[in-house]
Amino acid sequence: MHEAAPVNPWVALAYLVAGVCFILALRGLSSPESSRRGNRFGMVGMTIAIVTTLVTHDIASLPEIAVAVLIGGGVGFVIARRIAMTAMPQLVAAFHSLVGMAAVLVGCAAYFNPAAFGIAEAGVIFPVSRIEMGLGVAIGAITFSGSVIAFAKLNGNMSGKPILLPGRHFLNLGTLAVILGLIAYFTQDQAPWIFWTVTVLSFVIGFLLIIPIGGADMPVVVSMLNSYSGWAAAAMGFTLHNTAMIITGALVGSSGAILSYIMCRAMNRSFISVIAGGFGSDSGGGAEGAEKIDRPWKRGSSEDAAFLMKQAEQVIIVPGYGMAVAQAQHALREMADKLKEEGVTVKYAIHPVAGRMPGHMNVLLAEANVPYDEVFELEDINSEFSQTDVAFVIGANDVTNPAAKTDKSSPIYGMPVLDVGNAKTVLFSKRSMGGVGYAGVDNEVFYQDNTMMLLADAKKMVEEIVKALD
Ligand code: TAP
Repeated sequence: MHEAAPVNPWVALAYLVAGVCFILALRGLSSPESSRRGNRFGMVGMTIAIVTTLVTHDIASLPEIAVAVLIGGGVGFVIARRIAMTAMPQLVAAFHSLVGMAAVLVGCAAYFNPAAFGIAEAGVIFPVSRIEMGLGVAIGAITFSGSVIAFAKLNGNMSGKPILLPGRHFLNLGTLAVILGLIAYFTQDQAPWIFWTVTVLSFVIGFLLIIPIGGADMPVVVSMLNSYSGWAAAAMGFTLHNTAMIITGALVGSSGAILSYIMCRAMNRSFISVIAGGFGSDSGGGAEGAEKIDRPWKRGSSEDAAFLMKQAEQVIIVPGYGMAVAQAQHALREMADKLKEEGVTVKYAIHPVAGRMPGHMNVLLAEANVPYDEVFELEDINSEFSQTDVAFVIGANDVTNPAAKTDKSSPIYGMPVLDVGNAKTVLFSKRSMGGVGYAGVDNEVFYQDNTMMLLADAKKMVEEIVKALD
């Protein structure tokens, strides 16, 4: 029989330092300038936590752990290097599923060998540990199956369309109530059937909760599942008496919840309506839902664009998902450099949900070494469009669509948008007039008198503009 070991002050101190490192990591990650430093703090904190755990717990042989770390780390390294930036949301969903499964497996290990975890006396698991274990396994299983569905929807293995089961709210609430009731009963009786029923029902509810959510809301779901995975880890931290895990889990859980809330606000979706599901549209671009506005529009060439921007006092560049697909960021920076040489002021306007993941545009622009002081958030720059000569929209659509302000029936109604149409001239770089954005709706700005469409792949178009600027 193992008693819960008294807390070693050095271990407690090491975990505290790791916790502080994680907080500094989150703080660093809040701005592009400090994100590298933030990442380093995270690595240091994780190293301290892992080394402390390994040297102070007799959990497995070090060679076994080293082999596991090498295999897992190797696979993660290869995947991270190969993954396209546009596939990052599904990769994050896939990784969350692993966190959920790890929590379930730790829960199983603790249930079958509670003495090794110091959570039982004479084979009887302490009631409080049963609650921690039940909650950890339940949240972990929900995270796992929910993340698998999120991955399948984002990766196109499954339609992004909501799958609406009849009576789903009743079914979901009923299943959740049964899970919670069983966890409460688990404190009275540690019978295996209760443990397994909680685990299986949680896998099922994770699946049921995510299938009614449409592709358009999936990023919020991924962030929400990130939050769940944090809470699952925190619950397991209690089971394992591991302070570092409790701190880390709580940080991931709360930061994921805050990010979900911020994303909901930026997409003008209520958090409850996202989790209740069924409101999103197909992630495939929704071409079939697009209503074409049959009106004349103007086509421009790279020479026209170069000429207009050269004459401008200020150009605001608005990047979107298409810039990421075309990988046009390096060419774009070159174009901006040339314009600056001509005495033009160049700024970048970033919408909070431009692209397909939080910070997507910031990461790409940072990769192309765009100076941070030229990059502005929506609320800081939106009023400037009316005093700007050229708004250069590159692969963005929804985030510039005025229908979000004017058309109550639009799927993006209520989302704050960049007022590019207020600029003296709008240059819109996209491949075709038919291509619609994520929400699948046409954009009135394409047909404005002051708009010129630059129809080509964004990278190709910008490279041609760069040539024309010479
Ligand atoms: P979108 O509205 O998706 O528009 C992308 C535009 O890029 C399309 O008009 C497309 O037109 C064009 N495009 C695609 N490939 C291109 C290429 N190679 N060269 C040039 N243009 C290309 O993008 P957005 O304005 O960035 O808006 C983001 C949308 O995604 C919002 O609705 C947002 O709610 C949603 N969303 C955001 C996130 C986060 S957290 N950022 C996550 C998921 C979903 P063509 O096909 O004609 O080229």
